[in-house]
Amino acid sequence: MTQNQTHDPSGLSQEQAKVELLQLQAQLIAADQAYHQDDTPILSDADYDAAKRRYQALVTAFPRLQEIATQLDTVGAPVGSGFGKIQHVVPMLSLGNAFDDGDVADFDRSIRSYLGLDANQPLAYTAEPKIDGLSLSLRYEKGVLIQAATRGDGATGENVTANARTIADIPQQLQGAPEVLEVRGEVYMSHEDFAALNARYMERGGKTFANPRNAAAGSLRQLDAEITRERPLRFFAYSWGDLSAPLGNTQSEAIERLHELGFQTNPLTQSCASVAEMIAHYRHIEAQRATLGYDIDGVVYKVDALALQARLGFRSTTPRWAIAHKFPAELAWTHLEAIDIQVGRTGALSPVARLTPVTVGGVVVSNATLHNEDYIRGRDNKGEEIRDGKDIRVGDWVQIYRAGDVIPKVADVDLTKRTGEDVPFDFPETCPECGSPAVREEGDAVRRCTGGIICPAQAIEKLKHFVSRKAFDIEGLGAKQLEMFYGDPDLPIRTPVDIYTLEERDAGQLAKLKNRSGWGDQSAANLFAAITEKRNIALGRMIFALGIRHVGEVAAKDLALHFGSWDELAKALDLARPAALAHRSADMAEDQERAEANREGRRAKIKETREAVLSRLELHLAAREAWEDLVGIDGIGATVGLSLSDALANAQERAVFDDLVGHLNISAPAAPTQESPVAGLTVVFTGKLEKMTRDEAKARAEALGAKVSGSVSKKTDILVAGPGAGSKEKKAQDLGIRILDEDGWLAEIAPK
Ligand code: IVH
Repeated sequence: MTQNQTHDPSGLSQEQAKVELLQLQAQLIAADQAYHQDDTPILSDADYDAAKRRYQALVTAFPRLQEIATQLDTVGAPVGSGFGKIQHVVPMLSLGNAFDDGDVADFDRSIRSYLGLDANQPLAYTAEPKIDGLSLSLRYEKGVLIQAATRGDGATGENVTANARTIADIPQQLQGAPEVLEVRGEVYMSHEDFAALNARYMERGGKTFANPRNAAAGSLRQLDAEITRERPLRFFAYSWGDLSAPLGNTQSEAIERLHELGFQTNPLTQSCASVAEMIAHYRHIEAQRATLGYDIDGVVYKVDALALQARLGFRSTTPRWAIAHKFPAELAWTHLEAIDIQVGRTGALSPVARLTPVTVGGVVVSNATLHNEDYIRGRDNKGEEIRDGKDIRVGDWVQIYRAGDVIPKVADVDLTKRTGEDVPFDFPETCPECGSPAVREEGDAVRRCTGGIICPAQAIEKLKHFVSRKAFDIEGLGAKQLEMFYGDPDLPIRTPVDIYTLEERDAGQLAKLKNRSGWGDQSAANLFAAITEKRNIALGRMIFALGIRHVGEVAAKDLALHFGSWDELAKALDLARPAALAHRSADMAEDQERAEANREGRRAKIKETREAVLSRLELHLAAREAWEDLVGIDGIGATVGLSLSDALANAQERAVFDDLVGHLNISAPAAPTQESPVAGLTVVFTGKLEKMTRDEAKARAEALGAKVSGSVSKKTDILVAGPGAGSKEKKAQDLGIRILDEDGWLAEIAPK
């Protein structure tokens, strides 16, 4: 031990302390191993004790080091009240799905089309089992495991470091790894271990787990790591996150490298040179499924070359370069005991089948979806027969279909089991929750309650959506609490604004509710703190949280990026309102014209009808421009535009939105992290591009913080015009917009 190491560590910087701690940690681990396993000590007792004391002193002086400290004496360590949060440096994404061979061929085609490769050019993939467990990200710095995080919502996960350390397949230390290495993979439980665990619990009269995945998830997410230690969890590595140096040039090389570093990688991983080889390997894996000893639910294909993966990049939640080819669904027969109608956030009446519980692929199913009234009648959304036109009746013997995590559905009916007393299902035309008329619009498969937020079911579902993980994510305010608050006579929450006025309306009432609903001083204070914390919110999340029909997470982000603030968005929608209504009238006239023409056996002159309607309405130019700007945003379109316009024009809803905004600090979308000359600019691509496909051009521009629009307007900053550009180029010239050819654009975005 050097002299320095016995000194008070408080003079060090956090970074110096961390480096020293990691060095000491490596030394202590090596010393422990030498002493306990190899019987050949490498440190004297005195040096060992000194190192240990210094180690403890560093953690006491720098409490944040606790997260990475593995060699603390755990006895008496404080037990956390929940898991801490960890922000993923590289988001943890999910995978798109393929359900049949055709989907796999489409996947290959779309990749080739994105990269501009023809069908004959070589393109290699890897194929490997999709493990049915839960994903985990392991962060190693200087070869030492310092953090383990669950996927969470993909951006933020839970800190399960202490639990991950108890898993034998997860190395605590790596030799020769890059300085920073995040290894990602799946935690799972084998069939054998699962059966033994359940048998043990059954003996003790305790609760058992429904399947190995639930058992693995429940075990990893134990607040007491000692319980995790008793559960036999395993880990397969298949991917990575943050890295200081590449692991190889291809997926296969990278996986091989992870294997060499000491991780379990799946032995059924294979390189494939074509779709035919991918499908052959899928069949090979499928044939072994029952004897593998652990659950898999499909095969994952990945583009092998990492340079191509980088070019392909990501959609909002899934990579373009990978897909999961799922195994076919599981089926089972049971009795349909009742059909209930649930009313959703947007008023949709959804029929739910209540079933005599049945096991489908290892999971007990007692509810299944019946989609909508046509589905019950035996028709699809075009009025064509499904199930040979057989309708579904209460009392029927029905077949249940379950594929992966998707909600089970009723797939078929056995008519031979009917008693003759059953009657066709009478779908309600009024809302079962509020009694308002439930109407079905032309072309919509769904019947909807017209009660809006006076319908308690819609209001509660909207509130649940508002506080959900991808929206405001308010801890301690979930479905159960919202249902209680909604009907509370003294302290009701009926709109999102009520959440933000809860504390000022409370006056100590909540803390007194101890007996009735479990609230005490502490839990009330925690709730208020959680609500206050979420006064700071990103614009995209806030728009998504409003629960406007068709405005999903991606559309909300696109809107936030385009408008930059709630005021700008609201102003633009107010301005565009007459044009939105005109658009709807033109749509209706168009439908009518088409129907008449059909009846008379002639072709409809849609364009003329549309133009005639629009010109009769004499739209203000500003309204038309605002509407075109809105629906021109890539990924938005008339359906989202109209729904948004209706929501903001509805006086009741608008009052809530405007009021809510007053309670929040809304942040504009963050500027892209890298320096980018085109960040914030609106770009339009037209004509033929020769060096990359249109999709790739768009994705790259967006990754650099540009907005890509489909139409030229005053707001366009750059038009990238390839050969064959037409009216868009002319319009850009008239408006004096900067026009670049493809090379000019590439020079513009090249790193300088
Ligand atoms: S690759 C960027 N490979 O499936 C995508 N995922 O449905 C990285 N999973 O969240 C994922 N086995 O938890 C990949 N061999 C495998 C997998 C696998 C299981 C899980 C993973 C992911 C989910 C998506």
